[in-house]
Amino acid sequence: MKDIGDVYFQETKYDRESLGKGSLDWNNKPEIYKYYTDSKVIKLPDFNVESNISFLELLKKRKSIRSYSSKPLELEKLSFLLWASTGIQRIEYGYEFRTAPSAGALYPIETYLIINNVSELDQGIYHYNIEKHSLEFLKKGNFKREIALAALHQYFLSEAPVVFIWSAIFQRSKWKYKERAYRYIFIDVGHIAQNLALAAVYLNLGSCQVGAFFDDEVNNLIGIDGINESVIYLSSVGYSY
Ligand SMILES: Cc1cc2nc3c(=O)[nH]c(=O)nc-3n(C[C@H](O)[C@H](O)[C@H](O)COP(=O)(O)O)c2cc1C
Repeated sequence: MKDIGDVYFQETKYDRESLGKGSLDWNNKPEIYKYYTDSKVIKLPDFNVESNISFLELLKKRKSIRSYSSKPLELEKLSFLLWASTGIQRIEYGYEFRTAPSAGALYPIETYLIINNVSELDQGIYHYNIEKHSLEFLKKGNFKREIALAALHQYFLSEAPVVFIWSAIFQRSKWKYKERAYRYIFIDVGHIAQNLALAAVYLNLGSCQVGAFFDDEVNNLIGIDGINESVIYLSSVGYSY
């Protein structure tokens, strides 16, 4: 047994011998919010998204949707999708907790958007400022072809009004969990993606989760280094035909 995945899994098992050794370096706890201070900020609107769909129906209806109509996604709905996937939901002990669980509440995942067809927004690349529930406009332009090519030429991504790109800032979790952090980071993003998938159905939208992409092509597109922060998952969202 020497394949890297097998070695990783075995080497990152907890056992009674090793667990609990070492203490946390509170002076070097990484920031859990990322900001782009020089970019234009778009405040996201409050959302009023009452729907009659029951939780049972949500679970029955969710499926991967890979074909989208040309109907623009409303900004209010995008605001809800961002909040539902990874927004701040409550404050306890003075700490901001979010809609999806996260190991140690360390929140390693960042959200970027490729906006193709959302009302009130220019086409381009945006970053979700979680703390302020706003968008930071990083790059203007039409990137629908680039994102599809970077995702192994999955052209349905070009049709989607919005593509969510989730990256991880690894040190946020490694600060506490060391190498085991990678397990938790991928679990965290799964929670976020599932929240998004169910929130999309709630709004009568469809989504598809995408794990196949040329990592560094996506990293270059959104301007992250691929080492300290790297893309780990995508989702497209839109109205289906
Ligand atoms: C981790 C992960 C990666 C996936 N990657 C892709 C992908 O790259 N392209 C795609 O079209 N679907 C992708 N999917 C969607 C699966 O193909 C889909 O969930 C599966 O076929 C079950 O169908 P359903 O979602 O409609 O129930 C991915 C799903 C998961 C959970």
